[in-house]
Amino acid sequence: MYSKDVMEHFMHPRNVGEMPDADGVGEVGNPVCGDIMWIYIKVKDDRIEDIKFKTLGCAAAIATSSKVTELAKGRTLDEALDLSNKEIVESLGGLPPVKIHCSLLAVDGLKEAIHDFLAKNKRPIPDKLEKEHQKIKAEKCETGSHDHNDQ
Ligand code: FES
Repeated sequence: MYSKDVMEHFMHPRNVGEMPDADGVGEVGNPVCGDIMWIYIKVKDDRIEDIKFKTLGCAAAIATSSKVTELAKGRTLDEALDLSNKEIVESLGGLPPVKIHCSLLAVDGLKEAIHDFLAKNKRPIPDKLEKEHQKIKAEKCETGSHDHNDQ
């Protein structure tokens, strides 16, 4: 059901863990299944110097989170905000349609971490990012029951 790349990132996820001294933290829930993830970023000169993630989710969520951290590391904040879910999924060789919602956690988590960093540092938040933040927050409140769908 999963591509070779998805399985590889699932079995050997990059940048797993917590970051107690993170400059920004993004927490997002998957409204479909109730799973949750955190992305932690360390920012230097507006560049993501380090990034880690923790996901309580399925194989697709873990693989896409791993890929997002790999692609975001070293990017400027603006470049990281440009990362799209489509790009992540394509770079992993695709995902079954039923798992696309799981992949959204990773990009949303990254956006939330950047939003948190900008807010904490009293920096202007781009309109688009603020809108996405409000949407993610609204979805988080609706997060419901757990329903894994891996098989
Ligand atoms: S993230 Fe919950 S089933 Fe994939």
